Amino acid sequence: MQEIRAQLSEDLTAATTDQDIEAVRVRYLGRKGAITLLRKNADFSAMSGAERKRFGQQFNELKRFAEQQIAAAQARQTSTALAPPSIDMTLPGLNNHLGHLHPISLVQMELEEIFQSLGFMILDGYHVETDFYNFESLNIPRDHPARDMQDTYWLKNGLLLRTHTSANQVRALEHYGAPVRAIFPGRCFRNEAIDPSHENTFYQLEGLMVDREISVANLIAVMRTVLAAIFHREVTVRLRPGYFPFVEPGFELDIQCLICAGEGCSTCKKSGWIELLPCGLVHPRVLEFGQVDPDRYSGFAFGLGLTRLAMMKYNIPDIRLLNSGDLRFCEQFPAAV
Ligand code: DAH
Repeated sequence: MQEIRAQLSEDLTAATTDQDIEAVRVRYLGRKGAITLLRKNADFSAMSGAERKRFGQQFNELKRFAEQQIAAAQARQTSTALAPPSIDMTLPGLNNHLGHLHPISLVQMELEEIFQSLGFMILDGYHVETDFYNFESLNIPRDHPARDMQDTYWLKNGLLLRTHTSANQVRALEHYGAPVRAIFPGRCFRNEAIDPSHENTFYQLEGLMVDREISVANLIAVMRTVLAAIFHREVTVRLRPGYFPFVEPGFELDIQCLICAGEGCSTCKKSGWIELLPCGLVHPRVLEFGQVDPDRYSGFAFGLGLTRLAMMKYNIPDIRLLNSGDLRFCEQFPAAV
């Protein structure tokens, strides 16, 4: 019985198919199987009562063992046949194609967070604007030469596609009054011939802060705080006079070149400075258009070119890539979160 038991285990280990296992079953438990014959051929008459009892116990145990082992082997065979193919952990994962953020969105989101930390609201405006908000209320009357600087898309109904986010200034003043702090990021349109640095559709981020006794010092302080946060280091700024009908005085704000620290290099065209944004103190007429008393309140405004900033920050050589809709372009920027 010991031998049969050992042999059965060995045979079952060697059996790899259903047929092999069935053959083992027949060989041991079949009508002429080794275990069956063991009982058939036993000579009970030559055994004492105690011997017979012992034989019976051992035989039953062997038979149960054989049945269990064969059933287990059959079960193993079925489960491996049904099991899914094993997983190869070393294969690269499937790409689930998460979208990517557009570089303009990235810069816009970063700026929004910085301005929010300084107490600015984020406001939206209209792409389709009236002559009043885009021009008149910004001290640009109908025959003013400044209109020539902004090639406007006029609609048949007399409305226009806003040429700058400054169109939101008087809307915000009318709605919120003073004091107010807000930024207006958004898309602007101008009828420009398109080349590597000009687009007819681009993004600006306008800022407006109106309160008691706002001066150029406040403008410089806010700009320096914001620019240090974007560029992750202290920046040196300078103001040059600049003309815009809706600010007085108006400035061009430059930052000292971050590449050469003012020494002069190819990025700053050897000047040591990079022109970053136009700004100024809100013209009293603009405050009046917004129903804010210029004798009590003053403010500053600025118009940051978001498109230009994104190009600077990510070293994008051609403005046309931004609106190209080419996914290979966007895929170089972080995936959406
Ligand atoms: N709106 C002007 C433009 O698009 C930019 C600008 C200049 C905005 C001076 C301002 C400012 O807020 O103060 O050319």
